[in-house]
Amino acid sequence: MALHDILFGPFPLTLGILSISLYWVLWYLRRGKQAQAQTQTVTDGPPFYPFDPAALDRKEPYFTQSETPILTFGNSMILPNRYAHEIRNNDHLSFRDGLEKDFLTTVPGLEALFTGTFHNDIVWDTASAFSRQISALIEPLSTETGIFLQENWGDDAEWHSIPLNDSMHLLIAQLTARIFIGEELCRDRAWIQLDISYTAHRTAAIKELPQYGRLIPIVHWFLPSCRALRACVRAARPFVERVLEARREQAQGQGKKQRESIDALSWIDGVAGRTKYDPTLTQLRLAYAAVHTTSDMMAKVVAAICEHDELIQPLREEIVAVVKEHGWSEAALAKMVLLDSVLKETQRLEPLASFTLSRIAREAVVLSDGTRIPKGTQVRLTTDNMWNSSVYPDAAKFDGYRFVRLRDQDTATGTATATGTPSGGLSFVSVSANHMGFGYGKHACPGRFFAGAETKIALCHVLLKYDVELVDGGLAGAQTDGMMIWRDKRAMLRVRRRSGEIEV
Ligand code: HEM
Repeated sequence: MALHDILFGPFPLTLGILSISLYWVLWYLRRGKQAQAQTQTVTDGPPFYPFDPAALDRKEPYFTQSETPILTFGNSMILPNRYAHEIRNNDHLSFRDGLEKDFLTTVPGLEALFTGTFHNDIVWDTASAFSRQISALIEPLSTETGIFLQENWGDDAEWHSIPLNDSMHLLIAQLTARIFIGEELCRDRAWIQLDISYTAHRTAAIKELPQYGRLIPIVHWFLPSCRALRACVRAARPFVERVLEARREQAQGQGKKQRESIDALSWIDGVAGRTKYDPTLTQLRLAYAAVHTTSDMMAKVVAAICEHDELIQPLREEIVAVVKEHGWSEAALAKMVLLDSVLKETQRLEPLASFTLSRIAREAVVLSDGTRIPKGTQVRLTTDNMWNSSVYPDAAKFDGYRFVRLRDQDTATGTATATGTPSGGLSFVSVSANHMGFGYGKHACPGRFFAGAETKIALCHVLLKYDVELVDGGLAGAQTDGMMIWRDKRAMLRVRRRSGEIEV
C-alpha cells in the first residue's frame, strides 16, 4: 500500500474519525463520572449579579400605555407586566408548549416531564388534590419539622452555625417526601439526596442542552448532566418500588382502598388503577416541581426575618395567640396574617424568577394595543409591577406589615388601595397581576396552597424553638442571573435553642 493510500485512503480516514470520536466519547464519559459524583451544586453557568429591586422600579402608572419596552430576540418576546391580564388565559398562547421549550420535555432522558404521560399529567392533579386537604397535612408536616430540627439544629442553647440554603433544602425535601412518599423514605438520607440531585442535574442539563441545537437527540447520551440524571432515575427505582410493593401488599392484606392514605405514592397508585405508569418518574417529577421552589422560598423568608429582626417578637406572639385559640389547624394557619404578610412581601421582592407566564403562540395573537405576537413566538412576562412604587409605595423597601395593612384597608373599604390594585390577591397563596410569584391565571401554581401550609408550619417551629440570626449579612444577599433570583449560597445562619412559649 502506498504511503498516500495509508495516509489518505478510506481505511485510515475511518480509523481517524473513529479515534477522534472515541476520544470525545471517553472525555464525556470521564466527565460524566465526575458529574455523578457531584451531588447538588452545579457551579458552571452564566455569571450572576446582586439583585436590586430599586433598580427595577419603573414608577409607571398601572395599566396605562407606558415607556416600558417590549423586548424581542429572534422568536422570543419579553412583555412588560401590564399585559398580564391579556396573556394569562389566552388559549392561543400555550402553557404546555412553553413548558416543553423551557424544560425540554421531549428530549429522551428527561422523561419525567414528557407531556401526555400519566407520570407527568398526574402531578397537576396531585398538587391540586393535596391542596384541598391541607388540614390532614398539618400534623405530619409539623411532626416532621420537629424531627428534622431536632436532628439537624439540635438542642444546643449556645449559638452554632448552619448553612442557610442547604439546611432549608434538606428540611423541605424531608417535609415534601413525608407527604409524597411517606415515612419509610422521608428520613432516608440516600433517598433525599437522590431527590435533590435529580433536580440539580436536570437543571444543569436544561441549561447545557440548548446550545447543541439539532444535535440534542445525540448529545444527550453523552452529556454528563444527562448521564447523571439517568443514573439518578436508575438509583431511585429500587427505593420507590420497594415501598410501593409493601404498600400494595399491606392494602390487600387489610382489604383497604389505598387512596385513603395521606401520602401521594398510594394516592396516585389508587388513581392509576389499571393504567400502567412509572411510579419512580412520578415521584421525581413531583419533587422537581415542589422542593427547590419551596426551599428557595424558605431560605429567602428566613434571611428576610433575620434582616428585619424587629419582626421576630410580633411573629412569635401571633403564632402563640393563634395556636392557643385554634390549635394546629387550617384555620390557625389562615389567622397568621403577619406571617402570611411576611411571606408575601418576601416573595414580592424576591420571587423565584423575574419572568413568568412562559407561553408559545400556537396562532398569531394581536393584543389590545395592536402588539402582534407572531405564531411560534415564545412570550414571557416580566413581574415588574412587584417592584413598582406606583403599585406598592416605597416598593424597594421590605415592609413585613405591608399586606396586613392592605388586607385591613381591603376589609374596611371593600377595595385595596395600592394604586389600581384590584381587590383580593392579598394573601400569600392568592395571585394577581401585581403579584405573580406563583404565576397568574388558569395555569397558576396548583401547589401553592401546599407550599403555603408547609412554609408556615416550618416557620412556626423555627421561630418558637430557636433564636436565629445571619452570621454575615453581607454574604446573604439576593442574587440573579437575569432570570432566576436566589439567596447567596454562602449564607450562614447562627441558631440557638430557646424554650418556646408553647409546645410545637
Ligand atoms: C414557594 C413555592 C413555589 C413557587 C414559588 C412555585 C411557583 C410556580 C410558578 C411560577 C409556576 C408557573 C405558573 C405559570 O406559568 O403560570 C408553577 C407551576 C407549577 N407548580 Fe409551583 N411553585 C411552588 C411550589 C409548588 C409545589 C409545592 C408544588 C407541588 C405540590 C408545585 C407544583 C406545580 C405544578 C404541577 C406546576 C405546573 C407546571 C408543571 O407542571 O411543572 N409548585 N409553580
